[in-house]
Amino acid sequence: MSDLGFNKIAGAVLATGLAIVGLKELTSVIYKVEPVEKPGYAITIAEEAGEGGAAAVEVAIDWGTVLPTADIAAGEAVAKKCISCHSFNQGGANLVGPNLYGVVGIKPGSHAGMAYSDGLKAYGEKTPAWGYENLNAFLLAPQKYISGTKMSFVGLKKPEDRINMIAYLHSLGSTLPIPAPAPASAPAPAAEAAPAADAAAAPAAEKPAA
Ligand code: HEC
Repeated sequence: MSDLGFNKIAGAVLATGLAIVGLKELTSVIYKVEPVEKPGYAITIAEEAGEGGAAAVEVAIDWGTVLPTADIAAGEAVAKKCISCHSFNQGGANLVGPNLYGVVGIKPGSHAGMAYSDGLKAYGEKTPAWGYENLNAFLLAPQKYISGTKMSFVGLKKPEDRINMIAYLHSLGSTLPIPAPAPASAPAPAAEAAPAADAAAAPAAEKPAA
């Protein structure tokens, strides 16, 4: 074999090797997994909730106070993170996930025509309805809150995003009443909203102390 022939072959081998290395690099860039910042959740909540502490996710938000002044338009903007998998219009199609019109107040896993995961079905069996508390916990960390759910979404870390999102969902045909504000709640972000909440369709059980 002549020198020239050998060089050609060696060159071809080298080029193939380089191509493989290059492809590997490229693949690792494309499939680079974004690290999930789990610790951030608890810290954010603890800060927002003041003395409530990290474990007090549910009691940290007084729905009767925050919902009447929540920013529904901002919630609709947050919903851009959901529309690859969910439709929000009345009678809208199920996509990867179920249509979400009127989801506040329905039994979890009960939207017609949706093939739910066993995880969500099991959750629906023990949970009468989607309300503010459990939606808040689910939207914070879906797969942590309902093990086995096939909603592969990282969650909404900011409390205001979840509040606005839930207010937006509530505006979509939900009849679930907004509770009266907690009488002696610590100064919340929207504390001045107390009078407006009275006008809401809540079963006015107790008037909040002035
Ligand atoms: C990657 C796709 C995907 C994204 C993004 C996503 N979801 Fe989901 N969602 C699903 C799937 C799939 C289900 C059904 C889960 C199951 O069966 O376990 C679901 C279920 C739900 C449910 C329960 C509905 C019911 O009928 O019980 C709610 C509420 C919900 N999603 C809200 C949201 C919101 C709000 C967002 C955006 C902040 C969002 N999802 C983003 C895929 C997604």
